[in-house]
Amino acid sequence: MIALMTGASSGIGAAAARALARERPGVQLVLVARREPKLRELASELGATYVAADLVDDDAPARVRAHLEEHHGGRLDLLVNNAGASWRATFADGGFENVNRHMEINFNAQVRLTEALLPLLRASEPSAIVNVASVAGRISRGGAGSYSASKFALIGWSDALHLEEREHGVHVGLVLPGFVATEGFPAAELTRRRATRWVVSTQDKATAAILDAGLRGAAERYVPRPWALIPVLRVLAPGLVRRLLGRGGVAKASLTKTGGDDS
Ligand SMILES: NC(=O)c1ccc[n+]([C@@H]2O[C@H](COP(=O)([O-])OP(=O)(O)OC[C@H]3O[C@@H](n4cnc5c(N)ncnc54)[C@H](OP(=O)(O)O)[C@@H]3O)[C@@H](O)[C@H]2O)c1
Repeated sequence: MIALMTGASSGIGAAAARALARERPGVQLVLVARREPKLRELASELGATYVAADLVDDDAPARVRAHLEEHHGGRLDLLVNNAGASWRATFADGGFENVNRHMEINFNAQVRLTEALLPLLRASEPSAIVNVASVAGRISRGGAGSYSASKFALIGWSDALHLEEREHGVHVGLVLPGFVATEGFPAAELTRRRATRWVVSTQDKATAAILDAGLRGAAERYVPRPWALIPVLRVLAPGLVRRLLGRGGVAKASLTKTGGDDS
């Protein structure tokens, strides 16, 4: 089995790569992210190969495909589109530039990589794609609108792709984490206080969700599972949800990488 994990240099991606190696001994992993030293270290631990690439770059999808063709016979059984990032800002402060920055890494990069690799996935069927979205792709908070917009887009596109690729033997699954403490999303404001610590989930739960979607055909997994109720509440009682979210105020605008609770 050949499995490609983007965003494998830290957080959920690195944890999921390790979990895949444990669950499927013999899997050939391909790790993708920008930080080469981190990829090299994890690749040597797991016997994997890697491509150090900024997925926003024009040539990144072709470079990843060329790597698969050269080192893995052009086969691909599982693509996990996990790379992502968040920078907090209200729309008044961040404007189109911040929306676009999120779309580039959280949506366009997934679409472009999938476009480049879909022929390999179809040729390797039965195969699977897992798109790591977010609960923020179902519900939006002040200060995180750009991030939410990119994840809403990812979910909408994934749902259609799921229907289109079924007949080609390519399963498309979605993973929607709530809060998981990682390097890019430390959730420090939540873990600091006992009253809110419980809402932060674990990387183990996120990786289990990725494996369910990627290996066992799950269509959609929230992390943790009860967070599936949040979008239900958003649809049934939008006024109530807005009032509740409004109480938390607007996440501090800072056009720096999130360091907070935008997941
Ligand atoms: N943690 C949460 O609470 C949470 C909640 C909901 C959704 N998510 C989603 O889960 C996914 C993983 O996030 P995480 O929590 O594990 O955060 P993380 O530790 O910051 O990991 C993000 C990964 O994406 C890679 N990446 C970022 N920009 C990239 C680029 N331009 N090109 C290539 N790779 C890039 C990073 O690697 P390099 O820096 O080395 O490039 C890193 O490996 C993201 O899609 C995130 O939106 C997380």
